[in-house]
Parts: sequence; C-alpha cells; structure tokens
Amino acid sequence: MPVITNIEDLKRMHKRRTPKMFYDYAESGSWTEQTFRENTTDFEKIRLRQRVAVDMADRTTKTTMIGQDVAMPVGLAPVGLTGMQCADGEIKAAKAAEKFGVPFTLSTMSICSIEDVAENTEKPFWFQVYTLRDDEFMTRLMARAKDAKCSAIMITLDLQILGQRHKDLKNGLTAPPKFTAKTIADLATKWSWGIEMLQTKRRFFGNIVGHAKEVTDPSSLSTWTADSFDQSLDWARVAELRKMWDGPVILKGILDVEDAKKAVEIGADAIIVSNHGGRQLDGALSSIRMLEQIVDAVGDKIEVHLDSGIRSGQDVLKAMALGAKGTYIGRAFVHGLGAMGEAGVTKALEVIHKELDLTMALCGHRDINTVDRDTLLVPKDFAGDWT
Ligand SMILES: Cc1cc2nc3c(=O)[nH]c(=O)nc-3n(C[C@H](O)[C@H](O)[C@H](O)COP(=O)(O)O)c2cc1C
Repeated sequence: MPVITNIEDLKRMHKRRTPKMFYDYAESGSWTEQTFRENTTDFEKIRLRQRVAVDMADRTTKTTMIGQDVAMPVGLAPVGLTGMQCADGEIKAAKAAEKFGVPFTLSTMSICSIEDVAENTEKPFWFQVYTLRDDEFMTRLMARAKDAKCSAIMITLDLQILGQRHKDLKNGLTAPPKFTAKTIADLATKWSWGIEMLQTKRRFFGNIVGHAKEVTDPSSLSTWTADSFDQSLDWARVAELRKMWDGPVILKGILDVEDAKKAVEIGADAIIVSNHGGRQLDGALSSIRMLEQIVDAVGDKIEVHLDSGIRSGQDVLKAMALGAKGTYIGRAFVHGLGAMGEAGVTKALEVIHKELDLTMALCGHRDINTVDRDTLLVPKDFAGDWT
C-alpha cells in the first residue's frame, strides 16, 4: 500500500486505475481551462498568518451547514457519472461521507439512482437537481428525493447548456464506454476497474433511464440531455422550484453579487459560490476571488458556501476565513474514489481534515467557527479591479 499524504497522490493513482475517458472527464475544464486552472492557483495567492504561543489543545473542526451537524465544513459536491470512476461509485462515496460525518450530494446525472443510495446508507443525503423542461419528470424526481428522505436539495443554476470540454469530445465519452479500438486498448490496462464494473448492474444513468418517458435505453440519453435541460430557466422558475420542496434549498453556481441577492429574494437557505469547477464559463473569475464580495453583500441574510478549486485543508481554511460557512470538494473526492473506492474517499476526507486541523492550530485557532479574516494575508489586489 503506497503512503498517501495528499490529494495529488490519490490523483496519480486515479489516473493509473481508471479508463482515460473517465479520468479526463473529471480532470478537465471547458475550452482553454483558464478558470479551471485559476480556481486552484488563486488559492495559492492567499497566505496564512503564523501565530505562536497560543493554546492549541482540544481543537474542533465541527460546525453546521444549513443547520445540520458536520464533522468539518466540507461536503461532497454532486458529480455526474461518479459510478463510472469506480463500480457503484455513488454508493461508496455516500458511505464514506456518512461514516466521516459530512454531507454527500447525489447528482441528477449519477449512475446509482436515488433509491440505490438510500437503500445502502443510513443517514439522509442531499440531492442535486438540474432544471429540466419536463415538469412531470421534475415533480417525480423531487418526490423520489423526498421518499428517499433526502434532507436538502441543491439546484444547479450554471448548467442550462453544457460548456464544451474538448477532451470529452475527443475521447467520445459515453457511459458505459463504447467498444472501439482505442477504448479496448485502454481498458486492457485498467483490468481491475473492468472486473468490478462487470460485477455491478449499475452502468447507466440510474435516475433517468426507465424514469424519463423517452429514455428506455441509454443510447438515447445524449439526445435526451440536449433536449431536456431547461434553457429558458429564469428566477421565476427557480422560485417555483423552491416552493416545490418543503425543506432546505441550496442554490449552486452563484458567482455574482446580483445573483446572490436574487437567491436571497426567493428564500433559498444557502448559496454555493461556484463556477462548476471551471467546467462551464471559461474566463469567469475563480470562486475564491468572488467569495468575499458576495459574503459582504448577502452573508448576513443567507449561508454562503463555496466550491471550485479546493484540494487541501488549507484551501478550506482560507474559504472559511473569507466568510464561507461551508465548502465542497468535487475532484478531490473523485480522485480518492478512482484510486481506491470507498477507502479512497475516506482517505481524501482524512487528508483534508488533518490539513485543516493542523493548519488551523498553526494559525492560532482551536475552533473552526472562530477562524476569521484576520487569519489570512490577502494581497490588496486579490479581488481585482475590474470594470
Ligand atoms: C466530473 C465532474 C462532474 C460534475 N457533475 C456535476 C453534476 O452532475 N451536477 C452539478 O451540479 N455539478 C457537477 N460538477 C461540479 C461539482 O459539483 C463542483 O461544483 C466542482 O467539482 C467543484 O470544483 P472542484 O472539482 O475543483 O472541487 C461536476 C464536477 C466534476 C469534476
């Protein structure tokens, strides 16, 4: 067993073990990937203040996100096709999150269905919805999430249309992979992935195939996706969706102060400052850059969370110090899952927790809830002078 000390170690293992088309699907951004890159490099521009001779005993990273207790303020972000990174991937990731005490969010575009995850876990998880044109399907999807006892829904607002990711087009991404000379040659070197995949029935989009009217077999899914996502989505529709769910609603994909204010108006419980991990609008600013101004504008009215670019506990600490009440990891847990299944997700969470805990201590804090802006050294021009 290799010694794993950081997320980068898991990423290398993920690349070795998983078919290229699925590794590339995770490890890419849209178009030039500028936003994808800056999501991580902007975190590096923020530095931490070293404080000494401060009592470091009895530390805690426990807090709450939308009123729910969490072992640390780090949830698992919704990630489509997680069950292609590793057989039954969503179930394995949900189990790891449950044992660790952090939220797991299931994507609409998951391989394991809402029911599959509910049957294999004890605690409620969160469900992410894409806004689709088919009202009947949307109503049923929300009802299924309710029946599965999901304790919150997360509505993704930054994907009415798909940002182009060059690698997916070049690799001919499908789930499950279509057999071509290229994929067969690749799969031959990823045999442990293949053996596990042959042992599960879950290889198609579990929330959709057999539930959406026109989709009875997976080959029609790409057409269905292109036709079904609601390009006409507006705030009136978001407000309607908010009313359809009588529990906490999180709006994901907010990167602008004006949109954050709209989220407050429609009565959302939390927003996620996010650019979809740099997978949608290439050229948008990184989430961490936009965070402080959004917190200043709405942070006293709504919980502000952040994702995009988190690869370490230090990154989590920086986001919390800039006013976030919670964060999410996407690729960081996917690398763990692709590397070692459930144990890999646990490892990713352990790595981030340890980094968060020790870094917090070295910054002179014992409680994640007391970490504030004074913990950081932020360049004066960090947010940028844009007009
Ligand atoms: C492979 C992949 C698939 C994703 N699928 C979804 C999805 O189905 N729904 C969604 O709301 N966000 C999706 N996202 C975005 C994540 O929820 C999250 O915003 C992003 O991964 C955060 O950035 P990070 O990967 O740098 O942590 C996906 C991200 C990745 C990397």
